[in-house]
Amino acid sequence: MSDPAKPLPVLELDDLRVRFKTDGGMVHAVNGVSFRVDEGEALGVVGESGCGKSVTNMTVLRLIPTPPGEVSSGTIKYRGTDLLKLSAKEIRKVRGGKIAMIFQDPMTCLNPFLRISKQLTEAILLHSDMTPDEARERAIQELERVGIPDAAGRVDSYPHEFSGGMRQRVMIAMALCTDPDLLIADEPTTALDVTIQAQILDVLRRLQAEKGMSLVLVTHDLAVVAGMCTRVVVMYAGRIVEEAPVDDLFADPRHPYTIALLGSVPRLDDPVGRHLTPIEGLPPKLAEEPTSCAFAPRCTYAFDRCRAELPKLEPDPDGRLRACFVTFKDGVPVEPVDAGGAA
Ligand SMILES: Nc1ncnc2c1ncn2[C@@H]1O[C@H](COP(=O)(O)OP(=O)(O)OP(=O)(O)O)[C@@H](O)[C@H]1O
Ligand SMILES: [Mg+2]
Repeated sequence: MSDPAKPLPVLELDDLRVRFKTDGGMVHAVNGVSFRVDEGEALGVVGESGCGKSVTNMTVLRLIPTPPGEVSSGTIKYRGTDLLKLSAKEIRKVRGGKIAMIFQDPMTCLNPFLRISKQLTEAILLHSDMTPDEARERAIQELERVGIPDAAGRVDSYPHEFSGGMRQRVMIAMALCTDPDLLIADEPTTALDVTIQAQILDVLRRLQAEKGMSLVLVTHDLAVVAGMCTRVVVMYAGRIVEEAPVDDLFADPRHPYTIALLGSVPRLDDPVGRHLTPIEGLPPKLAEEPTSCAFAPRCTYAFDRCRAELPKLEPDPDGRLRACFVTFKDGVPVEPVDAGGAA
C-alpha cells in the first residue's frame, strides 16, 4: 500500500538518452537523465546553454524531430504510463491536456492567424465536454486569471495585437485552460524585462498553488529557481550532476559545476563590489557519450580518476545526490587530499 502522506510521482524519467544525427556528426544531447517530479512539486532544471535542458523536456512530450533526433534508451513515465510507448494519437491527447508546455517564444504555441478566443476554446473543447459557450466563458476566465485587463473585450484579438508580456500571459492561459496536471515551462520569461518577468512568475506561482499542479521550470536564472522551486537538478553535458532541495543547493553546493555556477551569478547577499567569476572554457561538443567526467577539463578540483571514469549520480552519506569523485566540506575539497593538484 502506498503511504497516503507521501506525494505520488507525476513524472519519472529513467536513464533517458537522446541523440541527434547531424551533418556535422552525432550529438549526444541527453546521456542518462533520471529524475522525478511529485504531485504539487516545482522542480527547477538549470545549467548552461546546450546542456540538454530543452531536449530532455521536449522529449517528455515527444516534440523532438525524429530524424534527426532519436531516443536511444530510457523511460518517461507519466503517472506510471511510459509516454515513449504511446501512439501518436495517444500522445496528442496528453500533450496540451494533462501535460502542458510553455516556451520562451510564445509564438511557438500561438497561431498568428487565429483569434485568441478560437485557440483557447479549441483546446478546451478538445480536452473537456464543455459546450462552445461554456468554453468561451472559461477562456475569458483563464485570461483574467493571468492578469489580462478587459479579458472579455480582448478575447477576440489576434496574438500580434498583444504586447510581448501580454502574449506570454496568453500562452500561459492557453497552457492552463485544460487544467493540466503538470506544466513544463522552458525559459518562460527570459525574453522579458525584469518587471514583467516578476509579474509572470507571480502568476505562475499563484496558479500552481491554486491548482495543485506540478511544475518543471527550466531556466538559466538561479534567482528564479530560488523563488519558485522546492527542488533543483543541475545539468551538464546531458547529465544531471547534482540534485538537491533548493535551499540546500544554495547553502551548500556540492558539485564543482554547481559551485562554479553559483559563483558566476550575482546574489542578493553579495558584498558591494564582488566580481562575478564566469566559468572558464566551454561545455563539450558531445560527439560521443561521455565516458569520464565531462566537467573535468574546466574543473579546478579534477584529479586522475575524474579523467578516467564517469561519476554516477549517487547519494552522499546524508542522502544529497551528486556525481563527483571529490568530497567537499563547506565548499572546500577534503577528499582526495590532492584534488586539483594532479592536473
Ligand atoms: N534538432 C536538433 N538537431 C541537432 N542538434 C540538436 C537539435 N536540438 C538540440 N540539439 C543539440 O542538443 C544539445 C542540447 O540542446 P538543448 O536545446 O537541450 O540545450 P539547452 O540546455 O536547452 O540550452 P539553452 O539553455 O540554450 O536553451 C545541443 O548541443 C543542441 O545543439
Ligand atoms: Mg533550451
